[in-house]
Amino acid sequence: MLLLGLLPLMLLRGCGCQAADAPLDVTAEFSVRMYHQLQILGGEENIIFSPLGVELALGMVELGARGSSLEEIRQALGYSNLRQDEEFSLMSNLTRALSVDTYVVRLVNSLFLQTGVRFNKDFLQLMKILFRAEVETVDFSESAAVSEHINSWVENHTESKIHNLVSADDFSSATKIMLVNAMYFRGSWKNQFRPENTRTFSFTKDDGSEVQTLMMYQQGEFYYGEFSDGTTEAGGVYQVLEMLYEGEDMSMMIVLPRQEVPLASLEPIIKAQLLEEWANNVKRQKVEIYLPRFKVEQKMDLKETLQQLGIKNIFTKDADLSAMTAETEDGQNLFIGKVVQKACLEVTEEGAEGAAGSGMIALTRTLVLYPQVMADHPFFFIIRNRKTGSILFMGRVMTPEVIEPFDDNFDM
Ligand SMILES: *[C@@H]1O[C@H](CO)[C@@H](O)[C@H](O)[C@H]1NC(C)=O
Ligand SMILES: *[C@@H]1O[C@H](CO)[C@@H](O)[C@H](O)[C@H]1NC(C)=O
Repeated sequence: MLLLGLLPLMLLRGCGCQAADAPLDVTAEFSVRMYHQLQILGGEENIIFSPLGVELALGMVELGARGSSLEEIRQALGYSNLRQDEEFSLMSNLTRALSVDTYVVRLVNSLFLQTGVRFNKDFLQLMKILFRAEVETVDFSESAAVSEHINSWVENHTESKIHNLVSADDFSSATKIMLVNAMYFRGSWKNQFRPENTRTFSFTKDDGSEVQTLMMYQQGEFYYGEFSDGTTEAGGVYQVLEMLYEGEDMSMMIVLPRQEVPLASLEPIIKAQLLEEWANNVKRQKVEIYLPRFKVEQKMDLKETLQQLGIKNIFTKDADLSAMTAETEDGQNLFIGKVVQKACLEVTEEGAEGAAGSGMIALTRTLVLYPQVMADHPFFFIIRNRKTGSILFMGRVMTPEVIEPFDDNFDM
């Protein structure tokens, strides 16, 4: 019934006759709650995950879910205020918004299903249309072969950036469905850093220890603001810097506590509403930026986290995923065994060539006239689509790319 209900909606969508107003991703609340869960588990480690990836992966499950399996997902993701099925149109729009030439997003969504289980044709069809998702059948009892196959598939779809997404012990003969979600992003800064301005610099971790890292530098016009939650919880004022990627659809927001304040004391105040507040209140102005090069990568089994956020039913024998299977298929006892996500992000100067727009370095100044964002200690970041509000990545850098100290010391 849900599947039928969807069709008219899609026909409307299909005309593509006008540039629609931005659909607004409604899942920020869920994303932030998820971050806090990961933070509890994450100790002192870097974190990176893709809220949008999780949203879409859950959307794929939701499409095949019924009853409380369906309701829990709607509730947790914040779709309760949407009309029934409206979220699929939304997700389809969010997926489409990623296909822009100025940056590279490799979003891999795939369902691998057990050979022999007959799946509903409409379900498979909608998976393709709404999520551009591939559905493939495999024999999970051949766990080594399956993991090799899935890993090769993911590599092929992420420009070889994401390896070893799954391992053989992720499966057993009881596995009937595996949901795979991987996201790789590479954008060029609108204002690129000049590689010749990158220096060795020390980065002070939250525990007070220091590591050497490659610190990029530039000054230029950026969106910037100083915020305070009005209490001393976050250690008073913290900085928010928004750096646009080429094309200006995407940006990275960096949230940096004061030097002497650990990120751990800023993290608890992060709320969905605050993300919006930051985005709406940063102002374009001249800023001086010191940002380490970093690469963060994380593989997560999201099952426990999702359960903590109220999505439980789909992982149990009570799961109702009946809309996935053909009507003739009886009592499949389908449930989700695992949800694995791997996210990967590289932040670099991005392009020595064509960096003409950024020739503003002026080390001869003696006074610091502009606000300075010195990310030489842990910070929080998000990469979001400024048009749709969807969050591609959320995470934190506790340790940047560590290098062996150079002999020469540069004074900045
Ligand atoms: C998705 O986009 C279409 C047209 O581009 C628009 O009509 C529709 O309202 C959007 N859906 C949502 C939920 O925003
Ligand atoms: C990935 O690409 C390689 C080389 O093109 C190909 O041999 C392999 O079959 C592909 N793997 C999958 C799972 O598509």
